[in-house]
This record gives sequence, structure tokens and C-alpha cells, in this order.
Amino acid sequence: MRHHTTFRQLEIFESIARLSSFTRASEELYLTQPTVSMQMKKLTDIVGSPLVEQVGKKVLLTEDGRELAQATREIFAILDRYTMSVAQRRGLEKGKLKLMAITTASYFAPRLLGEFAKLHPGIDVSLRVTNKEQVLASMADNLDDLYLLGQPPDEIEVVATPIMDNPIVVLAAPGHPLAKEKHIPLARLAQEPWVMREAGSGTRKAIERLFREQGLEIRPRLELGSNEAIKQAILAGLGISALSCHALTLHQPGQFAVLDAEAFPIQRHWYAAYPAGRQISVVARAFLDFLLTQSSETACSPGGGAACCGEGCGK
Ligand code: PGA
Repeated sequence: MRHHTTFRQLEIFESIARLSSFTRASEELYLTQPTVSMQMKKLTDIVGSPLVEQVGKKVLLTEDGRELAQATREIFAILDRYTMSVAQRRGLEKGKLKLMAITTASYFAPRLLGEFAKLHPGIDVSLRVTNKEQVLASMADNLDDLYLLGQPPDEIEVVATPIMDNPIVVLAAPGHPLAKEKHIPLARLAQEPWVMREAGSGTRKAIERLFREQGLEIRPRLELGSNEAIKQAILAGLGISALSCHALTLHQPGQFAVLDAEAFPIQRHWYAAYPAGRQISVVARAFLDFLLTQSSETACSPGGGAACCGEGCGK
């Protein structure tokens, strides 16, 4: 039988078996009924015994028919897997990856994207780093393949995968009086002048939430729209702040004092997300898998290493 049966016949048979009807199978396959009947007759002749029987309006499978239906499903599944793996190889040889990252993710996103691009030189990569509002707008319009952010948005339904830790640590200038203290209470920190990120920043929200939970409030002395500006202000002695450990990635040990403060580091995560309805591309899926294999190596190790972040950093 193997030498005579055609894929067309198996396809027709599979459709009849699934839909229990010659008419619906012919509609599904855009064939005329006589073609379907003729191909089924040929298939039956090759097998040498009936595959279906008509019961009222329904077409039921005989025992031989059920066995063939099972074999057909297996053949088609093998072919599907083959087609998918070819597409995957092609997709990774040549394709596009559009990423969008929220501000603070700029400390690690370019490096990871660079490493991925080296592994897949045929892929065109692009990365936009922007604020939360624009990330949400781009997500709503389904513009980019993947989004790297510190908190899956409430406003849009997304599929979000945690890709690495994002500890938030309290920073001061190295000579700051609190730099030598241990277990600094939050109430004490709240008395300090703070340099804060802009309203809407995920980092800022996490800090404010922690203090609010303790019935405390911090009053920003200075509000700055970037982590880099905040670091400059800290070094200029304008106040203390709390930033993602990743914001210290390229700094020398000891350049900042990481305060040993109660309830810090705040343990957050970085997420890779995409809108729930989006079918993500082969390339985006490969990048997501790549991120997951890289996450342990990207654990926060700023200039000061674990000592810089204090206990719990990068765990
Ligand atoms: P952000 O970082 O503070 O730059 O918004 C994102 C986040 O941590 O949620």
C-alpha cells in the first residue's frame, strides 16, 4: 500500500475521518464530491478493505479505517514538525527582531542583544529605549516583537516572562554619614533628602510603595528623568536615592556607597513581554530563550560586586 497511496488520498481520508462527512471534507479541501469519492475508492482498493461505513448521514470509520486515521495523523505530525524546524532555521538565518526597552533596561539590553546578534549575524536587530508611556503605546499598537520592562503593565494584557532579578539598592556618596551604618531603619532614610526619578518610573513606584507600606513618605528634593542624572546628583552630595543595581553596572567598586538599609534591596524582576494576542516570531522566541539562558550570567554584578548590592543582590 505504501507504494501506491498518495498524500492527496491521505489528506482527503484524514478530513473525512475528522469531519465524519464526505460533503464537509470536500468543502474543506475545495474539491468536488466526485473527486473525493473517487480518491476514497482508490485508497480503499489499495488497502483492500473498507475504511468507512455510512450510518445514516454519518460516515463512520471501520477498524481498519481507525488504524489508518491514526497512522495518517502521525505522518502529518512528523511532516509538520519537519516544516516547522526548516522554517525555524530559515527564520534564524534571516529575520528581524524589534525590541523596546524601558529606560533602566538600557543597562543590560544592548549587551544581550549584541550577543544574540553575534550568534545570528543574518538577523536585523533594533532596540528602542524609552519611557513607560511610549512602551505602552507601542504595545497597544503591536509595533515591536518584545518589550523589556520592570513590571508587566496593568493596562494591556500581556504574556510576561521574568528574565532576571532587578534588585533596587539605596545609594549615597561614598563619604555619606550613613555609609558606615548597619540596618538603617526606613524611618531614618525617610528623613534624608532624596533624589528621585520622574513620576511614572517603575523604580520610583517601587520605592514609594515600600515606604508607604510602612506609613512613611519621602519628599524628593530633586526630581530627575534619568538614572545617570541621579547618580551625578548623588555624587554632588544633593541627596540619596535608590536605583536598580543594574544602573551601577559599569561603575568602579566604591564609587557609590550602597547603604545597608532595612527592607533593601527591593527584590524586583525584569520581564520580557509581548501583547497576549500576538503570535511571536521565530526570532523573538529564540531571543526569549536566549535571555533565559543568559539570566544567571546577567545577575547584577556592578562595580562593587555582591558587596555593592548588599545581601540578596542578584540572587
Ligand atoms: P524605570 O524602570 O524606573 O526606568 O521605569 C523600569 C522599572 O523598573 O519598572
